Amino acid sequence: MIAAGNQEKHLAGFGPKVEGFDQVPLGDIEATKAAITEETAGILIEPVQGEGGIREPGWPFLRQLRELADEHGILLLMDEVQTGMGRTGKLFAHEWAGIEPDIMGIAKGLGGGFPIGACLATEEAAAGMTAGSHGSTFGGNPLAAAVANAVLDVVLEPEFLPHVQKMGLLFKQRLAEIVDRHPDIFAEIRGEGLMLGLVCKIPNTMVTGTLFAEKLLTVAAGDNAVRLLPPLIVTETEIREACAKIDGALARLNVTNPA
Ligand SMILES: Cc1ncc(COP(=O)(O)O)c(C=O)c1O
Repeated sequence: MIAAGNQEKHLAGFGPKVEGFDQVPLGDIEATKAAITEETAGILIEPVQGEGGIREPGWPFLRQLRELADEHGILLLMDEVQTGMGRTGKLFAHEWAGIEPDIMGIAKGLGGGFPIGACLATEEAAAGMTAGSHGSTFGGNPLAAAVANAVLDVVLEPEFLPHVQKMGLLFKQRLAEIVDRHPDIFAEIRGEGLMLGLVCKIPNTMVTGTLFAEKLLTVAAGDNAVRLLPPLIVTETEIREACAKIDGALARLNVTNPA
């Protein structure tokens, strides 16, 4: 298997790693091609890396991976645990690339706060497993499945995903202005929909700490980024309020002489 990205840092203390994966640099199609051997079963990737720091390999890269997988008769697997269920403005992030994975893991937003995860597969890929070959104590439990069904009812309402896209655009524009106003603090903004990241020039925890004091919950990620992941039902007023708080808090942050 090939995994695109670099998670070494996050694995500290969590070893041993699952064997059989070769990691290649994110977005590097030549490295991915070079890593494919007779033994390669598939390619696994997050369409936008979450913990990695909202790192986007780009939609054309995902299309290239789809082509590569088809060419070699191997599987394309997507981890949409963070990007899925509307987070990027589409039900699943891979839809932006106009492709489909063979196998996909989803969780988080699937339960709207209730714990549930799911593994989806095309009929062809699923043929590799038979009922009962991979059990799980709480797998398929009726309460969690009912909750996920209710979440899907909401997320699949015709106005829901357009709302996420609209709010994502507004938030990104406002944050881009903030990045411009604080060039000592931020290097760039990236992300899609309501999965946004600010890459920092100062330690990202300084930014998350400052925003926490303003009662704004953000989360540090790899690449010295701060993740902004508001609820998908966030309103325009709330985004404007959050941006005013972020702007104000950062203006008070003494970057040249941090406390
Ligand atoms: C992209 C991604 N994949 C997988 C996981 C792990 O998911 P779970 O906690 O459901 O095992 C996470 C958790 O943060 C994640 O962000």
